[in-house]
Amino acid sequence: MSEQRFKRYTITSALPYANGPLHIGHLAGCYIPSDIYVRYLRSQGRDVAYVCGSDEHGVAITIKAKNEGISPQEVVDRYHEMMKSSFQEFGISFDHYSRTSAKIHHETAAQLFLELYEKGEFVEQVTEQYYDQEAQQFLADRYIEGTCPKCGYEHAYGDQCEKCGSSLSPTDLINPTSKLSGSVPVLKETKHWFLDLGRYTSFLKKWILEDHKEDWKNNVLGQCRSWLEAGEGLQPRSMTRDMDWGIPVPLKEAEGKVLYVWFDAPIGYISSTKEWALAKGVDWEPYWKDKDTKLVHFIGKDNIVFHCITFPAILKTHGEFILPENVPANEFLNLEGDKISTSRNWAVWLHEYLEEFPGKQDVLRYVLTANAPETKDNDFTWKDFQARNNSELVAIYGNFVNRAVVLTHKYFGGTVPEKKELSPFDQETLDAAAAFPGKVAESLERFRFREALALMMDFARLGNKYLADTEPWKTIKTDKERTATILNVALNIAADLCVLSAPFLPHTALKLSRMLDLPERGWGDIAKGDLLLSGHQINETSLLFEKIEDDQVEAQVNKLLDTKKSNEKKVTKAAPMKEIISFDDFARLDMRIVTILEAEKVKKSKKLLKLQVDTGLGKRTVLSGIAEFFEPEDLVGRQVTMLLNLAPRKMMGVLSEGMVLMAEAEDGSYKLLQPHEGTTPGAQIS
Ligand code: MF3
Ligand code: ZN
Repeated sequence: MSEQRFKRYTITSALPYANGPLHIGHLAGCYIPSDIYVRYLRSQGRDVAYVCGSDEHGVAITIKAKNEGISPQEVVDRYHEMMKSSFQEFGISFDHYSRTSAKIHHETAAQLFLELYEKGEFVEQVTEQYYDQEAQQFLADRYIEGTCPKCGYEHAYGDQCEKCGSSLSPTDLINPTSKLSGSVPVLKETKHWFLDLGRYTSFLKKWILEDHKEDWKNNVLGQCRSWLEAGEGLQPRSMTRDMDWGIPVPLKEAEGKVLYVWFDAPIGYISSTKEWALAKGVDWEPYWKDKDTKLVHFIGKDNIVFHCITFPAILKTHGEFILPENVPANEFLNLEGDKISTSRNWAVWLHEYLEEFPGKQDVLRYVLTANAPETKDNDFTWKDFQARNNSELVAIYGNFVNRAVVLTHKYFGGTVPEKKELSPFDQETLDAAAAFPGKVAESLERFRFREALALMMDFARLGNKYLADTEPWKTIKTDKERTATILNVALNIAADLCVLSAPFLPHTALKLSRMLDLPERGWGDIAKGDLLLSGHQINETSLLFEKIEDDQVEAQVNKLLDTKKSNEKKVTKAAPMKEIISFDDFARLDMRIVTILEAEKVKKSKKLLKLQVDTGLGKRTVLSGIAEFFEPEDLVGRQVTMLLNLAPRKMMGVLSEGMVLMAEAEDGSYKLLQPHEGTTPGAQIS
């Protein structure tokens, strides 16, 4: 697989769902590795298109919209911008970041569907699918929940059980319920267009399990093998859905149906490339159709089947497209021993990190690469974050560069001094250094980013050790010429380090290049000779890394502990049941719907509001302890529930005749109990 075989590169990273902010798991999974790879390719002078964009369709979006009470469009608009800016801040250097709601994408995906349709690649089938009669909607994928037939987990989704990982169809679920209305769905016939994946089995087996058995990662091959060699074979997969959010199926008879999100999203890579090429004034087609192009998909492990089986099957059967040369998927990153979870707020959010550690993007990039879940799930801990910053970035990289630059200013006025005779140790160091660019490159081309990063740090270590061993601060006292040679060698190692570390630590490398006043240099320039010649003037030193103190990481750990506590509270919140009462006991309570006519704060009380209510039997005054949760003006006109025959009580000098009923929420706030529909005041509750 000589790299020389390829004229150009199309590098993709998974389009993230626009349904929430980005966290460290996203970065570690596919964005940092792809960015390192691309920056390295560019440094090698290769022709690269690095594309991504927001995945804005599918149930992931519509469920979020429903939960937040806003439209799907509002959801994707909000998170598209947020994700795009987080990527930028962290130096993820996409050539183009698009979104699947873009017109060009709708057209590209619909067109590709039509082309496959016309070639007869789809199997049209009327099947029975679950339908929610209350919501009047078919229940695709995550709209339906039930018990997993494989492991018994009670909250498995219609498309997947998150507990045991099995992929499911809604009809596999035991006791299915609708996530929309909570009702039991019924089966209803509907027509869909299926891709018969079984037809591609022998092609896929040869292409993945034979042709790529040497160069694809084991975790990826393992998953592919289990899909391709499963007893029941690859099952037909529907490429359409009964939903109103997505790309309309471009067929007359498919009104009200949209393309399956996993059909359209990967095509987003192509649309994003088109958009990029259009803006740049180049032809997009070679990037997807020319055999001289190396296509690489960076993804997380939950996306393997779609990038190794479904999408290649689509590309192959379409006929014009190249297939990925590699699909380097990472496993998952955990946080302090627990699975990262958006709903449990168990994550380090990128936008929060940027506020709490401003200017420290490279530290996170470094730690997430050093600990990348390349071959197995891995754990992010704040202690490790601190240790790697303090004892690697600060103590090795930063220390080395700082000493070389500071001493050059101190002894030679900031001018790169002349290199005279090299000692055997100098020569040994330079020989060792010369081997690094090749070694780092080899690791990178094999997608071994942890190894490549460790080598880069070894290179900094070599420089650091060189200064420690040659001790220019001592030789300056007796031998200025020797000191000059030492600093010339050290500065050139620092310049090489700048080039070698740039893919991993782009912000740092930029600072370093300014410090050294080093013009832009590529990977290949290192071998051509010294990057810094004697007489070259360097700039003042600036701090590349700074120590992270204990209190900073403690604050982060405490924040997570708080999250844990509040999550536990949520689970154990429900109070135990009170003792059983008779029906007569119940019947003695006179509960009614009343309308709030007036509301005002009670002087000198933080908690109490004084309400005038229409009880249907006349007006009454009630005091209610809800001043912290409601503004008086928001209450006027609302209907609430009230216990009418509670013995009157005087509080803060006011007589309260009855009690407005409330539900106590998890966070200790109160919620009013309002009738579902407007009712005449005085309506009895029974
Ligand atoms: N949105 C998907 C996820 O976050 C990934 C889509 S990758 C693409 O898991 F290939 F479909 F774009
Ligand atoms: Zn299961």
